[in-house]
Amino acid sequence: MTCGQYPGLFLLLLGLLHGSEETCPSICLCVSDTVSCSSSGLTRLSSSLPTFSVTLDLSHNHLTWLSPGSFNRMPRLENLQMAHNQLSTLSHGVFNNASGLRHLDLSSNKLLVVEQHYFQGLWRLEELLLFNNKIAQVEAGTLGGLSSLKKVYFSLNQITHFPFFSIQDHSHPFLTMLDLSSNRMTRLPWEDVKALPGLVQRGLYLHNNSLICDCSMYSVFWHWDLRGYDSIRDFADEHTCSIYGDPRASIRFLRHNRFFHNCTVEKTISQPVTVLLSNVLVSEGDRVRLDCQTSLSSTDLSFTWLSPNKGYLTEASINDSLISLFPNGTLEIQAAKVNDSGLYVCTAVDIKQALNATREVNVMVLLPAAQSFNTGYTTLLGCIVTTVVILVYLYLTPCRCTCCKQSNPPGIPIATYDPSTLSSVFCSSIRDQSKIQTNKHVAFMEPMMSEDGTEGTPESCP
Ligand SMILES: *[C@@H]1O[C@H](CO)[C@@H](O)[C@H](O)[C@H]1NC(C)=O
Ligand SMILES: *[C@@H]1O[C@H](CO)[C@@H](O)[C@H](O)[C@H]1NC(C)=O
Ligand SMILES: *[C@@H]1O[C@H](CO)[C@@H](O)[C@H](O)[C@H]1NC(C)=O
Ligand SMILES: *[C@@H]1O[C@H](CO)[C@@H](O)[C@H](O)[C@H]1NC(C)=O
Ligand SMILES: *[C@@H]1O[C@H](CO)[C@@H](O)[C@H](O)[C@H]1NC(C)=O
Ligand SMILES: *[C@@H]1O[C@H](CO)[C@@H](O)[C@H](O)[C@H]1NC(C)=O
Ligand SMILES: *[C@@H]1O[C@H](CO)[C@@H](O)[C@H](O)[C@H]1NC(C)=O
Repeated sequence: MTCGQYPGLFLLLLGLLHGSEETCPSICLCVSDTVSCSSSGLTRLSSSLPTFSVTLDLSHNHLTWLSPGSFNRMPRLENLQMAHNQLSTLSHGVFNNASGLRHLDLSSNKLLVVEQHYFQGLWRLEELLLFNNKIAQVEAGTLGGLSSLKKVYFSLNQITHFPFFSIQDHSHPFLTMLDLSSNRMTRLPWEDVKALPGLVQRGLYLHNNSLICDCSMYSVFWHWDLRGYDSIRDFADEHTCSIYGDPRASIRFLRHNRFFHNCTVEKTISQPVTVLLSNVLVSEGDRVRLDCQTSLSSTDLSFTWLSPNKGYLTEASINDSLISLFPNGTLEIQAAKVNDSGLYVCTAVDIKQALNATREVNVMVLLPAAQSFNTGYTTLLGCIVTTVVILVYLYLTPCRCTCCKQSNPPGIPIATYDPSTLSSVFCSSIRDQSKIQTNKHVAFMEPMMSEDGTEGTPESCP
């Protein structure tokens, strides 16, 4: 594409401009400090690339191997694009004398292991693109020494373990993006993840892995969600985990958190501070009791609650017959309102021993109608399954004859990666309940009306 008659002309011009023996291979385009040999059918790197290159584009070729010191004649090289080649490994010293590199794109290749030596010496590297390879393993020392790193993309690989411990404040002070989404991680070393620098946690993308649902996993995402990280917000639906590790029982855990209601997770933050978290789901008008059981065992504790819409609540400050704080720390809301929803944080302080501990409770108050529907909806599993089948059926039917061929592709694997249906079997979030609520009439009235034959829509299609 980029090759043609013009490179010759550029070569001539450049020859004139540089007045040197710099050459531009005929299949490449050389423009000032940029050399593009993209989509040129290259199978090996030409040895005659201009030494003044700052940007070198070798993407969309057939490179399978790069010899040591491939770029050592290009001291000014900063930007190297090698996406869409056939590289399965990098030999020792490929980037010798290329320490000026700031942007390295090796995406869409066939790399299998990211070995420790691959990027040695690239201390100026800011952006490293490794997505869409076949990487199963990232060796522990790989990112060591890459102290300028800002963004690293490992998405769409087959990574099962990642050396989170190798990333620390002092080792990677500028790292704000670590993309590990769409890999094969089932369990993460959550203690290492929680120890990551704040900026890295904020920019850590983990959606679309094969996570196994458990409380330690959930608590980490629960906190990130509360902090409103983009990585969570933007991909809420792609955050899935499987119950008991069964990939068929995959749920979108940020949407459907009923499975985690009983999670109380201890999380020690340097000091003897313990955080327990849980979710409480009630309907409007219900009486809510939030206990403040913490790790502190003393009987002489004082309690403070921080509520989302009433600020700090202590025994002394409460002047509201609708709320009470018992001496044992339990906070009681007589009749919950929708706007009482939010995060309640209780701090228990043991004055004598100068210890304190907190407990966090995320309260969600639903409208009564939605809740009553919810209760009915969740009583019998068999019933739910039936309902889901009906709902699925009804969601498909609106497109009736016009598109029933597309809407029912034969190859859909049986719910392996369809969290939307499965998750409704295990749990349902408020959002979904309200959605179902609004569709309630559609869901339950229509099938009765249309029993006369439209039920058989798939067959009755032209
Ligand atoms: C590459 O770096 C080595 C030292 O690491 C140096 O001895 C050698 O001269 C350099 N080669 C070029 C072509 O700059
Ligand atoms: C999820 O990951 C798989 C591979 O693990 C990939 O094929 C798929 O496209 C990804 N889905 C999304 C929505 O990113
Ligand atoms: C949570 O605990 C309650 C009682 O302690 C129990 O009835 C309920 O089944 C538990 N829920 C889950 C999802 O484990
Ligand atoms: C408590 O509320 C009542 C009215 O409901 C008010 O008269 C009284 O001054 C309040 N006391 C405090 C300490 O705020
Ligand atoms: C705290 O006290 C209240 C009222 O006496 C009681 O209803 C509640 O169950 C107690 N909570 C705990 C955790 O013991
Ligand atoms: C919460 O809603 C109730 C009515 O349901 C209203 O009276 C009250 O002012 C609201 N409070 C806040 C803080 O918005
Ligand atoms: C709890 O302890 C931390 C340090 O351990 C302290 O900074 C904080 O002020 C304490 N909170 C209360 C309410 O005493």
